[in-house]
Amino acid sequence: MTGKGGISFSLNGKAVKVDLDPMSRLLDVVREHCELPGSKEGCGEGECGACAVLLDDEPVCSCLVPLIQVRGRTVRTIEDLETGGVLDPIQEAFVEAGGVQCGACTPGILITLRALLDRNPAPNRTEVREALGGNLCRCTGYEGILRSVEALLPGGDES
Ligand code: FES
Ligand code: FES
Repeated sequence: MTGKGGISFSLNGKAVKVDLDPMSRLLDVVREHCELPGSKEGCGEGECGACAVLLDDEPVCSCLVPLIQVRGRTVRTIEDLETGGVLDPIQEAFVEAGGVQCGACTPGILITLRALLDRNPAPNRTEVREALGGNLCRCTGYEGILRSVEALLPGGDES
């Protein structure tokens, strides 16, 4: 079964039309069909956030979103944070301040943080933790992640 002529949406700023089963997982559509492998599969059940993408600027677990649900909407993946080879400031901060450990959770966390910083440019530590409630990091804890965000905020790494 296909989308009967395709399902159109905006993907990383470009209009795309995808002719696949409307119930295809958005995660598979972007990774395999659109060749954007930055979003990762962790649990596949909406519990880890590794697959997070922005749907109309809100982070969603792409493993739970059927293709049909994005018709006419705007999807951004981790690949869209970088512009012309220049990293997003939050990506820079993760590199500089040790926010990346094994990296499995990193794309989802960066996407979630980009959405947070777009609506709240100066979140406190509690707000960052709350925003990351759906993003699991199984490495050595969240300290490097929090430090990376705080390095971006006015006042440096004070919270
Ligand atoms: S892979 Fe989607 S939430 Fe874990
Ligand atoms: S950096 Fe390894 S799971 Fe988060």
